[in-house]
Amino acid sequence: MYSVKNVSYKYPDGTSALAGINLEVRKGAFVGLLGANGSGKTTLLRAMDKLLKGVEGRIRLSGVDISTLSPKEIYKKVGLVFQNPDDQLFAPTLFEDVAFGPLNMGFDDNEVKQRVSAALKEVELTGLEKKSVHNLSFGQRKRACIAGLLAMGHEMLLLDEPTAGLDPMGEYRMMKLLQKLNKENGVTIVMATHSVDLVPVFLDRLYILSKGRITRGGTPEEVFDAPEDMANIKLRLPHIAELIYKLKHEDEIHFDRIPLTIGEARREILKIIENKDHRAQNTDSRGNS
Ligand SMILES: Nc1ncnc2c1ncn2[C@@H]1O[C@H](COP(=O)(O)OP(=O)(O)O)[C@@H](O)[C@H]1O
Ligand SMILES: [Mg+2]
Repeated sequence: MYSVKNVSYKYPDGTSALAGINLEVRKGAFVGLLGANGSGKTTLLRAMDKLLKGVEGRIRLSGVDISTLSPKEIYKKVGLVFQNPDDQLFAPTLFEDVAFGPLNMGFDDNEVKQRVSAALKEVELTGLEKKSVHNLSFGQRKRACIAGLLAMGHEMLLLDEPTAGLDPMGEYRMMKLLQKLNKENGVTIVMATHSVDLVPVFLDRLYILSKGRITRGGTPEEVFDAPEDMANIKLRLPHIAELIYKLKHEDEIHFDRIPLTIGEARREILKIIENKDHRAQNTDSRGNS
């Protein structure tokens, strides 16, 4: 759906924020951009949404160079969710905010109502239509921003740190919501994040960003198999991956793969213990006979 080739960008003050970025986002994918503060995540998302002037390289959206697309053509396809919901929400009530996009697209009142109601249901904000957006919690405001884009029918969402500032439960709920939109509704998602523990568990593909460059890309398991690389770019491994890495390399316990969740780690460890038990039993019985 997106193809980013050799993209570089310097801010007007001379800061080089992106330096030769290459990445591919397939239709239906759930892709993460992981990097420390200042690594270029926001700049990359803004470049992909054609919000920056003077971007070098080529960005294609469904095969079409975005430099040939009008803002309207881009916004019809792609929705960008800002990191701070207060930069995005502006209408007095939740209903009016989510209705703004579809109204602007020229749908009649009935269609607008239907779209708002469906979008609010998706993000679990049904019943709060009349509430002032200022009185929604931070997590609710973040979900309201997503509803605004869903109501317009976006198949492609770019999300800038959708879990930043949420408590652990809120972070989990946000990831479950995005996973549902991706897997059940077929929304293609690219999200920027600096969260290493929970977020990657949900992703199909992960790109590590450091100083405006992509230093690694692959499945989360592949990416987290190299703690030195992570330290170099000021990120740590997920706790589980770090434990398994140490067991593997310092204690020479064999793991087929690096688990990322407690559940997977438990299964892998049980497998190893069972194999050991088997081997012990086999030697026992041979010894007895
Ligand atoms: N408006 C701006 N003008 C100049 N430099 C900027 C601007 N916005 C961001 N930068 C710089 O660009 C680099 C990348 O920033 P950003 O894309 O915001 O990173 P991230 O989102 O990963 O924290 C940083 O060095 C940052 O200081
Ligand atoms: Mg940012």
